Amino acid sequence: MTPNDLAAALPALQRSDFPAAFRWGTSTSSYQIEGATREGGRVESIWDRFCATPGAIRDGSSGANACHHYHRWPQDLDLAQELGTNAYRFSIAWPRIWTAAGTPNPQGLDFYERLVDGMLVRGLEPWATLYHWDLPQALQEQGGWAARDTVHAYTAYVDAVTRRLGDRVKHWITHNEPWCTAMHGHWDGMHAPGIRDFGMALQVCHYVLLSHGLAVPLIRANAPGAQAGIALSLHPVRAASMSEDDVAAGHRHDGLRNRWFLDALAGRGYPADVLAALGASAPRIEPGDLATIAVPIDFMGLNYYFPETIAHAPGRSPLQTVVVTAPDVERTAFGWEVEPAGLTELLLRLHREYQVPAIYVTENGSCYDDEVIDGAVHDTARTRYLVRHLAALRDALGLGTPVQGYFAWSLLDNFEWAEGYTRRFGLTHVDFATQQRLLKRSGQWYRDFLRAGR
Ligand code: NOJ
Repeated sequence: MTPNDLAAALPALQRSDFPAAFRWGTSTSSYQIEGATREGGRVESIWDRFCATPGAIRDGSSGANACHHYHRWPQDLDLAQELGTNAYRFSIAWPRIWTAAGTPNPQGLDFYERLVDGMLVRGLEPWATLYHWDLPQALQEQGGWAARDTVHAYTAYVDAVTRRLGDRVKHWITHNEPWCTAMHGHWDGMHAPGIRDFGMALQVCHYVLLSHGLAVPLIRANAPGAQAGIALSLHPVRAASMSEDDVAAGHRHDGLRNRWFLDALAGRGYPADVLAALGASAPRIEPGDLATIAVPIDFMGLNYYFPETIAHAPGRSPLQTVVVTAPDVERTAFGWEVEPAGLTELLLRLHREYQVPAIYVTENGSCYDDEVIDGAVHDTARTRYLVRHLAALRDALGLGTPVQGYFAWSLLDNFEWAEGYTRRFGLTHVDFATQQRLLKRSGQWYRDFLRAGR
């Protein structure tokens, strides 16, 4: 497809279609880009340990080097600035802050202070995620997220970080995708710490949400005027057929995937139908926990990638549901269905069913098998994905949803968890052997879109 054909096939879009104060950014996370896992006093994380398990990571790799961002961050922030973005979402590595002595590691705090100052001088508003899956291994050995004490270890960490950075970071995300922390980490075992225990996964879910609820007031106390929220991975759920069984299975799946988090955060408690379906696997909840979780937030972060189609499948999972692969739909190289309208649908749902005060799309992006040809990456499919999702966002705005920003996943190709380096999501191509960065055509499109509208 030539650039002209591409332009003709896409919705016309301009930055001025969005409010002037809209946040435009890119998103990354510590373990996926930093490398330098043994520098600056960083301790071992559950991901360092998990990656060393034979067979855990598709290409046998780890985040030990990743994008060398720990050293190359000035160049990477330059890239974010050149794109014309005005915000940057990153995460803080707890293992860089944690020490056995219980006092925070000053080298870790210094690193993030330099990084944040680097954003501010470049006109990038820092959006800090406090937990993007890299738990210190020492805490895992004390039970990890399945132990209630980890909630208190987390709040001590949040306290240290927000005291140090609260004067300059005004947007805080307590957790990234609690579903993945809990379910991939403790149910299907695809992520660190690689446990397979459904009941434990639900307990983890509860403690992660509880730690969110305790962190929000701390953030507000230590970072005056700051906004606090959480980033959820939500999926529109479709039933595989109109049969009563499939429709009910879709509802159960939506219950655990989406409503479990949304209802609890909105102060409605965990959905009764899901609790009933869980039976003995339901988590232990202490008096007051649900009120803590329901602390009002300033914004909801939405990570949107794809919808899910669900069928009833007795015995297949504790909830008796199965994700069905619909034939003949457009997919990314990961096999994820491309459905921009799903983004509009989720934004509307957050607005209408949950009345969230503000929404930021904290992640959205696509993975393709990119190749560098004659010094360029012609990632037409990713550009199409980006443009069509921004058009879906514009549709949601037109319908009155309070969406106030968009962060593309990701600034850089990076370590894609269990998939290692085999999945590229970046607007910038990274040659992991030479660490050379190259803006892809999709990144050029984003830059031109953002710069033209200035
Ligand atoms: C969600 C996660 O937050 C991020 O770490 C991951 O790389 C992307 N989705 C793509 O899978």
